[in-house]
Amino acid sequence: MNKLITIKQKKIIIGNWKMNPDSLSDAKRIFTKIVAGSSKFKEVETIICPPSVFLGLVGKPKNIKLGGQDGFYESTGPHTGLVSISMLKSLGAEYLIVGHSEIRQAGETDDLINKKIKTGLKLGLKIVLCIGEEIHDENGEYLKILQSQLLQDLALVPKKYFNQIIVAHEPVWAIGSLSKNADNPESFAHNRLFIKKVLADLVGKKVGLTVPVLYGGSVGVKNSKDFLTTGEADGLLIGRVSLIPDDFIKIITLANN
Ligand code: PGA
Repeated sequence: MNKLITIKQKKIIIGNWKMNPDSLSDAKRIFTKIVAGSSKFKEVETIICPPSVFLGLVGKPKNIKLGGQDGFYESTGPHTGLVSISMLKSLGAEYLIVGHSEIRQAGETDDLINKKIKTGLKLGLKIVLCIGEEIHDENGEYLKILQSQLLQDLALVPKKYFNQIIVAHEPVWAIGSLSKNADNPESFAHNRLFIKKVLADLVGKKVGLTVPVLYGGSVGVKNSKDFLTTGEADGLLIGRVSLIPDDFIKIITLANN
């Protein structure tokens, strides 16, 4: 008789530090605390995405992976002020956030996001593709925006790379409010299924349905458990609270159980 084997996927908890903190010594202090507080957790994949200038300097412990917060798709060239994805990789990044709404709002196009994704994938990085609507309407029109972002951002990405893709649904209206404006877990569960269906239609069920879908936007200690249980989130993308080691460790602890 065939045995049914269920593989428990590790929850993915990502700290997006954005343009914080303002000094290397603070970055090292926060990072060291998180590393120390999360060393015993085996059922969770923890990733910290510091500003690129700190990436190679905070340390490279076994229990935490590092990620970049965006990078340019060409490896070198006359692009003053930019940092390439391959430079981030050379500093230890294994993950790359792409398509964050704060960068989309500054004018980033889906075409540019698509180029960055393809470069990151070829370099072997895991891509955290952020998608999200600016307005949440009751009729579900916002789902069309999520679909369009997914299809444009992942256009012509070969199927073989989809095991390196993670999608984070971050409603723009939910970001940065310390739980006040967060989406609710039931709504996220619905959005997660919708995202998986779009991916399944794109590359087939076998591959599409296994892409992890994270929730992001005002996640804190209080609402994190509900997103991981009721919301069935495969993980969380956390901004502000990832800079507060005690709270971030509490969330990793919840995700591990
Ligand atoms: P927040 O940010 O947790 O501070 O809302 C999340 C994000 O923008 O990635």
